[in-house]
Amino acid sequence: MKNRLSLLAIVGIASLTSLAAAPVMGQNAPPPGDVTRGEYLVKGMGCGDCHTPMKMGPAGPEADNSRTLSGHPQSLVMPPVPELPKGPWLGVVSATFTSWAGPWGVSFTANLTPDRETGLGAWKAQTFVDTIRSGRVMAKGRQLLPPMPFPAMQNLTDADLASIFAYLQTIPKIANRVPDPIPPKDAPVR
Ligand code: HEC
Repeated sequence: MKNRLSLLAIVGIASLTSLAAAPVMGQNAPPPGDVTRGEYLVKGMGCGDCHTPMKMGPAGPEADNSRTLSGHPQSLVMPPVPELPKGPWLGVVSATFTSWAGPWGVSFTANLTPDRETGLGAWKAQTFVDTIRSGRVMAKGRQLLPPMPFPAMQNLTDADLASIFAYLQTIPKIANRVPDPIPPKDAPVR
């Protein structure tokens, strides 16, 4: 009897610990972000490779620094996805590197500037951390689509994610409404 009780106690403690270890969204505010560290991470992790539209330069596509991190330009309405040749090609990308078609449909890179209406201006650090941790838009919306590298970003600490967010809140606001993704049935990659 005594053994069974202590076994129960161990199981109880184990399940309590696993509950404590499970990520609880939106409960523990992330630590305050460090803007300098955030800038280092954003620049080192290449967020701009996808979130800053490219323009054609003398040596090929280069970042359009007048639109830093503002996502797929709203003025660039993409035509239907072209037909792919047979073979191992998976998808296509726009010349701006901001619109991506593949088996997931068409995704458009988000506006990460602090514009309140069209960017992350109304987000809190918690919204940002929860979005990356859950892989869902604002933690409870739809799943984030490729090629957004949120699985890689999940390896960062809450402090680093909060720092990324803190830096993003300091960059120039750009009003640019990124289109919603197009589901695969409406944009088949054939
Ligand atoms: C390889 C391309 C790529 C890279 C690199 C990339 N992203 Fe993204 N990101 C995307 C795409 C595409 C989306 C839109 C996904 C969707 O609609 O589900 C996105 C969406 C997001 C969103 C969701 C915004 C919203 O309003 O829902 C956030 C936040 C974000 N990215 C932050 C970052 C940060 C910070 C970095 C750098 C650490 C980064 N991304 C690097 C492609 C990329």
